[in-house]
Amino acid sequence: MKKYLTIIYLCLLATTTKAQMFFGANQSKQDSIFEHLAATPPMGWNSWNKFGCNINEKLLMEITDAMVASGMKEAGYEYIVIDDCWQVGRDKEGNIIVDPKSFPNGMKALADYIHSKGLKLGIYSCAGSLTCQGRPGSRGYQFQDARQYAKWGVDYLKYDWCSNEGQNAEAAYRTMSDALKICGRPIVFSICEWGESQPWKWAKGVGHLWRTTADIRDCYQCKFDWGGVGVLDIVDAVADLYTYAGPGHWNDAEMLEVGNGGMTRDEYITHFSMWSMLAAPLMAGNDLRSMNKETIEILANKEVIAVDQDSLGQQARRFMDMGDHEIWAKPLSNGEIAVCFLNRTDHEWKLDYNWKKDIMYFASDVNIYKNEYTVRDLWKHKDIGTTASNTKYSIPGHGVLMVRLSLKKRA
Ligand code: GLA
Repeated sequence: MKKYLTIIYLCLLATTTKAQMFFGANQSKQDSIFEHLAATPPMGWNSWNKFGCNINEKLLMEITDAMVASGMKEAGYEYIVIDDCWQVGRDKEGNIIVDPKSFPNGMKALADYIHSKGLKLGIYSCAGSLTCQGRPGSRGYQFQDARQYAKWGVDYLKYDWCSNEGQNAEAAYRTMSDALKICGRPIVFSICEWGESQPWKWAKGVGHLWRTTADIRDCYQCKFDWGGVGVLDIVDAVADLYTYAGPGHWNDAEMLEVGNGGMTRDEYITHFSMWSMLAAPLMAGNDLRSMNKETIEILANKEVIAVDQDSLGQQARRFMDMGDHEIWAKPLSNGEIAVCFLNRTDHEWKLDYNWKKDIMYFASDVNIYKNEYTVRDLWKHKDIGTTASNTKYSIPGHGVLMVRLSLKKRA
């Protein structure tokens, strides 16, 4: 009898160990897939800033087409993200119901359309029981919702924090992260709890990007009582978080307002330049169907995008803070460096910058004393001198000079 019991015990032990090994291996494979989903900051478009709840499948398909036709796709934009208001309830089994009026063909058909254009679909939900617009959230349905998203072909989830009912943010986001990791489809996870619990301290490995502030407003510098913030307010909030950003885990400086009409051209250039210096996700938030030349030239500036998407994944540091004038520097993967002179004032900054003075302290790879670097203006798309002589430039009020330094080729 004792012998049989021992055999049964050994069999059970072997099965359990095997199962543990199998699931353990599976888990680490899932973690590894998840971990590599956003090696560079995600780029795409989100419906919220421009359209709020006025969304439907026709609009989303037109935006998809415009993303391709405008050259945005070619410039690197990938995700078409449907924000709040696509969901209307749950059925008897608890499955989330897509608004049949706005999306008569359902989410799968839309995903198929977006995929057929070589782009990816993003969707929105909330860690609370209701979304910020009072639609059903995912609290209590995380695993069911994640499986549903995977079935539809969703590639990206933005997950909000309204009606959170006092949950612990880290636990709430970990639950959805776990659900996404085993849902059967790689899904980028965008944490949107507005920086309240300092997600940069716990969210690496949980999500790929985390919001750092309240919602952006289409203004250069502004703060609203109810939480909206402008471009400079966000830059200041993200500035000191540079140690937390890197491949697969990004400080989300909020979606872009470029092209929505509230700022001047120079201010939008500053907005886009600084987001790229900060290695922030680039989520356009305007109507891509009716962009003017000025807007597309900003959003699809490949030289600036290359700084954002640099594989080193470093967030720029505010290297010099002279009050109204700042110098930001971002080391790049090939030993180059992006430098952005930011003029916070509303009047011109007559820059006369001696490169030998201080830039070499920042980037160990860049040795201004030993080598000569070409200074390339990333907005004018031309070389404007070298580090051997001062860079003289007139930077407009609220504007920037954004340059890339690369080792000068010998003649
Ligand atoms: C919150 C988010 C926004 C947007 C809205 C939608 O305010 O921070 O980005 O998703 O909800 O209701």
